[in-house]
Amino acid sequence: MIKNKFYITTSIIYTNGPPHIGHALEEIQADAIARFHRLKGDDVFFLTGSDEHGIKNFRAAKEADKTPQAFVNINTGYIKEILKLFKVSNTDYIRTTDKERHWPTAQDIWTKLVKSGDIYKKEYEGKYCTGCEAFVKDSDLFQGKCKLHNKEPEILHEENYFFKLSKYQNQLIKLIESDEYKIIPTSKKNEILNFIKTGLEDVSFSRSKEKLSWGIPVPGDETHTMYVWCDALTNYLSGIGYTTDKEKFNKYWPADVHLVGKDIIRFHAVFWPAMLLSVGLPLPKQLLVHGFLSSRGKKMSKSTGNVIDPLTQIQKYGPEAVRYYLLAGITSDDDADYSNAELISKTNSDLANGLGNLVNRVLTLTEKNFDGKVPPKYDGEIKEKFKDVPTKVENLINEFKLHHAVEEIMKFVYELNKYVNDKEPWKIKDKDELGKIMYELLEGIRLSSILLHPFVPDTCDRIREQLGLTEAPVWKDLEWGKLEGKIIKGEVLFKKIEV
Ligand code: MSP
Repeated sequence: MIKNKFYITTSIIYTNGPPHIGHALEEIQADAIARFHRLKGDDVFFLTGSDEHGIKNFRAAKEADKTPQAFVNINTGYIKEILKLFKVSNTDYIRTTDKERHWPTAQDIWTKLVKSGDIYKKEYEGKYCTGCEAFVKDSDLFQGKCKLHNKEPEILHEENYFFKLSKYQNQLIKLIESDEYKIIPTSKKNEILNFIKTGLEDVSFSRSKEKLSWGIPVPGDETHTMYVWCDALTNYLSGIGYTTDKEKFNKYWPADVHLVGKDIIRFHAVFWPAMLLSVGLPLPKQLLVHGFLSSRGKKMSKSTGNVIDPLTQIQKYGPEAVRYYLLAGITSDDDADYSNAELISKTNSDLANGLGNLVNRVLTLTEKNFDGKVPPKYDGEIKEKFKDVPTKVENLINEFKLHHAVEEIMKFVYELNKYVNDKEPWKIKDKDELGKIMYELLEGIRLSSILLHPFVPDTCDRIREQLGLTEAPVWKDLEWGKLEGKIIKGEVLFKKIEV
């Protein structure tokens, strides 16, 4: 059978500091989507990485009294550590300082932009926000400060290379309006369309090397460094072997999904597709835009002292509880406040009381009454309740409503728990009757362990082990009546977090 390819990317994280919980959110969302597609049998390539050039990284290194390379190495190390602890299943990790894989791609794209006649030199003065790594307009400012970073931009006056972004305005409008390049949610699609319709200006695509040497040299002009966004966006090509593995590249490009935060839509919905149009490469299919996490109601920042460190969260609550909260307790495509109290309440209600308790009760009863043997297959009311769940979950994941997808699965888990309470199997003496109930419950747990797998993979693996299942979960096993054999009751899945 020929597998569908599915290429998903996250944005690449700046290495000017260790990653925070907002970065983890994006990685975990992408991981859930990638894992879902693997379950479906797709040939998935999941790319993530780090954005290591530009003023932001350069200055942070200087402040830390380190060379830029040594400094970005440290922060890349932290990102990779977080990915590992959260069991993020990325296929590859691309770094923009990778001179073998990344630089030749960025330089090749630049050369092609030149060939298309879309690069020209111009003397320019503008306001540059280092936080955005972009020139900003007055409409991006509030009381003279960048609305996103609350910092005054710097005035830059240079002769730079420019990219003819304005040339692509009408084409971009058509592609986005028609959903040929689909932006989800619709509110963000409309927002960016309005922005494009106000008129696109050409953008500066280089810095003089004198002012910024930390980056990729412009091909044919060593006195200029490539603009960090022009360099960074090409990671989506270099990461799948644009210059190093043509076969792999041809197999996976165009991307099926770019997942990004709301602050960088412009770069992904305007700059990037315009660059691809200019060099003649197919456009990505979808841009999924997630919201921003705040902490104690405020934007996370070092000066406010409210940055949430993923490592501390993992140490306190365990990686699966944090994953679960980020996917089930946070609206995928909207802003939210990260709250430890909510994380605790969600873990306790859904994972400890809901799922954990269910598995514990049902497996204990099966051990006690059937010596651990799975009773014969039975089609009853749980089968009926399950019938529409997979399609609903699939649709919600495809619409980037991950929190609703989990909710749908947890409603089924709730039904299973309710069934235990209603039937009171511990009071039933008739083995046949009890067997039917236990079969339905065990089978319901097996099916939940497939559906929940993209969200809490480790927990689901532990459940599957207890059900005596040795094979990796697959979507086509979401068919009623497949469980047989013997269960092996294990440790309690989740202990309640005491406040
Ligand atoms: N390096 C650029 C992306 C280049 S992609 C070619 C960048 N890096 S970042 O480190 O600032 O952000 C990485 C991702 O994390 C972005 O999608 C961004 O929107 C997201 N987030 C940054 N802060 C966030 C929150 N507070 N909450 C949720 N996501 C956040 O932008």
